[in-house]
Amino acid sequence: MSKQPIGIFDSGVGGTSIWKEINMLLPNESTIYLADSANAPYGLKTKETIINLSIKNVEYLINQDCKIIVVACNTATTNAIYILRDKYKLPIIGIEPAIKPAALNTKTKAVGILATKGTLSSELFHKTTDLFARNIKVIERIGEGLVELIESGQLYSETMRNLLKQYLQPMIDANVDYLVLGCTHYPYLMPLLIELLPNNVKIIDSGEAVARQTKAVLQKYDLLNNSIAKGNCQFFTNGKTEVLASLLKDTLDVKYLNF
Ligand code: SIN
Repeated sequence: MSKQPIGIFDSGVGGTSIWKEINMLLPNESTIYLADSANAPYGLKTKETIINLSIKNVEYLINQDCKIIVVACNTATTNAIYILRDKYKLPIIGIEPAIKPAALNTKTKAVGILATKGTLSSELFHKTTDLFARNIKVIERIGEGLVELIESGQLYSETMRNLLKQYLQPMIDANVDYLVLGCTHYPYLMPLLIELLPNNVKIIDSGEAVARQTKAVLQKYDLLNNSIAKGNCQFFTNGKTEVLASLLKDTLDVKYLNF
């Protein structure tokens, strides 16, 4: 049993899609969320830079006495997770694109994946695809510009709609019946994605699976907070507090932090 907080970080505001799933499953856990929005997007950075930024975020969360770290960023996971796990003793949860369920369930034998350049070009992503999606067609598209628009609060802009149309068309042409969201920012595009995709296309992200995995690991190490009181949830960003706050809707504690 441990009352220490769960530390969660992302390159920006997108990882709150993961925080929501964790908070729903484990409402009595305290959390500290770190949005490195000043450095977003990670997806266009070199592996070395992504590793260094990830280390900086983890060190901050460890200094806040976190008992576990959730890397709520696909790009940071695919580029830095092995290094982080090697370097630190506490458990570290990563997030990978949900290729496996899509590949197992597709009827058209074609799935689409939208992710950042950093994720799609990583070794971990290719290993996962080779392992689970060898016999199906995988249409990969880099979601260039999407993270920047989400970070600046332009979720429903005309530019966003046009970019999505452009990225989804080759997937629609290939008759995909699953779209895998390989970036934690993208669940915030769900209303537009549903509108732009044919009705038979299912959209999946990794949020629920990551929350379940976090719970399982806390259980394994006897770190769950068994108190019945609601956890204390803090949010820090080195970017615009209003964008982070608007995605969280409730009046949660969002603060600017220069880290
Ligand atoms: C990014 O910072 O480029 C996107 C974050 C992610 O991959 O989840």
